[in-house]
Amino acid sequence: MKQNVADLLNAQVNKEFYSAYLYLGISKFFTKAKLYGFANWYRVQATEEQEHAMKIYDYLLDSKQDVCLEAIDKVDIKIESALAAVIEADKHEQYITAEICKIMDLAIAENDYTTQSFLDWFIEEQKEEEENSRKMISRVEAVGSDRRLLYMLDKKIERSVSNPPLQKRKL
Ligand SMILES: [Fe+2]
Repeated sequence: MKQNVADLLNAQVNKEFYSAYLYLGISKFFTKAKLYGFANWYRVQATEEQEHAMKIYDYLLDSKQDVCLEAIDKVDIKIESALAAVIEADKHEQYITAEICKIMDLAIAENDYTTQSFLDWFIEEQKEEEENSRKMISRVEAVGSDRRLLYMLDKKIERSVSNPPLQKRKL
């Protein structure tokens, strides 16, 4: 693997961990707002992001590359509504997609077929993530300022998460 490809992958490990951190920040907002379905959804997302980071981490080590574990940025976002929260998540997913595409572009330019094939999974995953985050925006937009509808949507999201609802103990 070329050093420039390894460097971008290394930076992506950090970005995936930051994604986990950001989702935790979003989950925290929903927990405080007593919207436990949303809170759980984003908490599960945070776990997934850690798995993404570890996938790249393992790929680098398997490719006999070093992994530099840089500091993770502070989550510095101001969320004041459910809509602002889901928009923040969508914005971030778009950014991550662009970053994955940059690594893919470099892997193509460097004729690094192994990395291209490794990144295929991430391209597919980002497509799903963006679909989900867009769906979340339209659902929250549809309920508007109706608090009762927002709670109903929250219940629906709680049921849709396949993992055991982490926040249930608080209900
Ligand atoms: Fe990710």
